[in-house]
Amino acid sequence: MKIAVTGVAGFIGSNLADRLITEGHAVVGLDNLAYGPREQVPAGVDFRPVDIRDPALATHFAGCDAIFHLAAKNCIADCQDDPLETADINVTGTVNVLRAARDAGVVRLIHAESSAVYEGSGVLPTPETEMAPRSFYAVSKQAAGAFAEGFARFEGLHLTGLRYFGVYGPRQDYRRTIPPVMSAFILALLRGEPPTIYGSGEKRRDFIYVDDVNDFHLQCLADPRTIGETFNLGYGVTYSVNEIFAHVAKLLGSTLEPVYRPDLRGEAQTTHADIAKARALGWQPRVDLDEGLARSIRFIRDHVIANPNPVRAAERGAG
Ligand SMILES: NC(=O)c1ccc[n+]([C@@H]2O[C@H](COP(=O)([O-])OP(=O)(O)OC[C@H]3O[C@@H](n4cnc5c(N)ncnc54)[C@H](O)[C@@H]3O)[C@@H](O)[C@H]2O)c1
Repeated sequence: MKIAVTGVAGFIGSNLADRLITEGHAVVGLDNLAYGPREQVPAGVDFRPVDIRDPALATHFAGCDAIFHLAAKNCIADCQDDPLETADINVTGTVNVLRAARDAGVVRLIHAESSAVYEGSGVLPTPETEMAPRSFYAVSKQAAGAFAEGFARFEGLHLTGLRYFGVYGPRQDYRRTIPPVMSAFILALLRGEPPTIYGSGEKRRDFIYVDDVNDFHLQCLADPRTIGETFNLGYGVTYSVNEIFAHVAKLLGSTLEPVYRPDLRGEAQTTHADIAKARALGWQPRVDLDEGLARSIRFIRDHVIANPNPVRAAERGAG
């Protein structure tokens, strides 16, 4: 198939593009490089340096069989600081992607939502029905999802919404001012620096390795039961930040102690995915925490630490 991926220079988009190419698909990759670096776009991608708000976006989707829409502004703190740009990229940008898909005659579209929409829900593990956004980022994902439903109903698009939990793995954004915990811990310990933990470290997270997410991406292309549905993609198991630190330290044989700093605002106490819906279609996460961390460590050791001139640091990243 010929598949378009928006956000192809980002963490999940670049991993997805790699996998699609390995599976024999042709990939048209779109990204304005606001957060993802050009160097991260896999070889073999037909790369287009465009913004998803481009009025001529449909020309890039011509002849595609499906679109994965992953591009977004997704650092929760940045989104909280700038609701206007958040709406512009995540809502208007998504509407433009949906409109361009329709105009290009591409019916199948899979779009990234987020577990952040469950921030205010007390139901754990959380099923897909428990929407309770508590941040502008989450609200933007909910609004984009509502427009996607509109395009399914009024324009006949075949849509699937994916609510990722804490995705991790190679190319997870380690360049951010405050990187996600996995990358932050691995990077600090490999450099021999004490990592920072914000808050008590007792927040619990459901982490899913990027290859498991890609398994479901591929299933979306092949399984018509995914059309018109929204799925949680998590592991269905939670770890505290302190437990993640302990795992990383053990794998690296480090005795460095973390430094605790004041909590970050806008972060849920616990995320825990109810993955029964995706499981019912035969999908199953396969990469456990130790294996996923070992692979993430290998990537950071080989591509970040070993590279004296890493990709230019983004001032404030996404994730
Ligand atoms: N990583 C996670 O754990 C996670 C969790 C929940 C949801 N998500 C969602 O998954 C998607 C991918 O996340 P990621 O972690 O790969 O993020 P990422 O920041 O690594 O990638 C996003 C990419 O989108 C691009 N982009 C941003 N604005 C754009 C615009 N206006 N036009 C074109 N490109 C633009 C960025 O340059 C970047 O390369 C996002 O929609 C995100 O909200 C991710």
